[in-house]
Amino acid sequence: MALNDGMIERVFSGVQPTGNLHLGNYLGAIRKFVDLQQKFDSCLYCVVDMHAITVWQDPAELTKNIREVTASFIASGVDPKKHIIFNQSQVSGHAELAWIFNCVARMGWLNRMTQFKEKAGKHKENASVGLYAYPVLMAADILLYRATHVPVGEDQKQHLELARDIAQKFNKDFAEPIAEAGFADGFFPQPDPLIAGTATRVMSLKDGSQKMSKSAASDLSRINLSDDAETIAKKIRKARTDPDGLPSEEKGLEGRAEARNLVNIYAALSDSTVEDVLKQYGGQQFSAFKPALSELAVAKMKPIGDEMNRLMDDPGHIDEILRDGAVRAREISQPVMKAVKGIVGFI
Ligand code: TYM
Repeated sequence: MALNDGMIERVFSGVQPTGNLHLGNYLGAIRKFVDLQQKFDSCLYCVVDMHAITVWQDPAELTKNIREVTASFIASGVDPKKHIIFNQSQVSGHAELAWIFNCVARMGWLNRMTQFKEKAGKHKENASVGLYAYPVLMAADILLYRATHVPVGEDQKQHLELARDIAQKFNKDFAEPIAEAGFADGFFPQPDPLIAGTATRVMSLKDGSQKMSKSAASDLSRINLSDDAETIAKKIRKARTDPDGLPSEEKGLEGRAEARNLVNIYAALSDSTVEDVLKQYGGQQFSAFKPALSELAVAKMKPIGDEMNRLMDDPGHIDEILRDGAVRAREISQPVMKAVKGIVGFI
């Protein structure tokens, strides 16, 4: 069996097509996708449309948003020829493996998921079953390719831990058939979350205690990848700060969530550290720092937004990239799914 050649290092990550892609998604995830494609031979970047429908999506909007996330990957620099960009629903293995994992994961594990609690809020009884099972599908996404590295923002850490638990329990529950099939070290790897840098949790521009999010009511709370230069500058100008100037040392940011967030964003966008930023701007007022941050954000983000718009003008081309990506994703996942079915005892 070709799969027995051992685990190869592979990167997998996903982004939901739920609109309002923002700076947090870019700095926390998409930009890392670009860096990792140099270091790893096999990277899969997935538009997770099946995750998106765990809450209601208008069908026409969903189609547009799938194309927009695809365009954001390409515009940011992911190479769809060298690596794989595809959408989840075109590869049936995600749903198949998720079902098997639904029978491996325990209710108690899912009951601990904080994101479900946040998203379902007070209306838990009214949440879709899909929203509850969401992290199981996410484990299936990763493990369908036996991926070893998963670049994500801080908010996905708990989901990654669940994926590791599911992989471990599957390996244990089916240890005998797995060994019989010739997999000496278990069938699924323990995927490693890649969460590092100054932008693993970009916060809202309006409230430093909330993360920047696609669903926040105020558009002023986030910088969208589709924002033009003027809008980016306006949002940074209006970003909440405190009356003090910037400190010269990092400890001066303690208890100043909004100030810290803007410094973190500057450091991430300029590929430098918080220390470097404070060396340059320490002692200055926000009235001086904000224009510098705007200029930097526009310089980095506008070319991406422009390229996204250009790509979105040709939806046929985007759809073709997704179709091609799905064909190549199936080539990797089908042997895995076949082996899983055999291990479980399906004929
Ligand atoms: P999603 O679509 O909410 O977000 C996409 C990526 O952006 C990161 N992110 C952030 N990073 C820093 N600061 C923020 N404010 C911020 N907001 C979002 C997220 O951590 C994520 O990396 N469940 C996932 C999608 C998914 C997935 C997967 C990821 C489905 N299957 C398999 C990895 C592997 C999600 O909802 O991401």
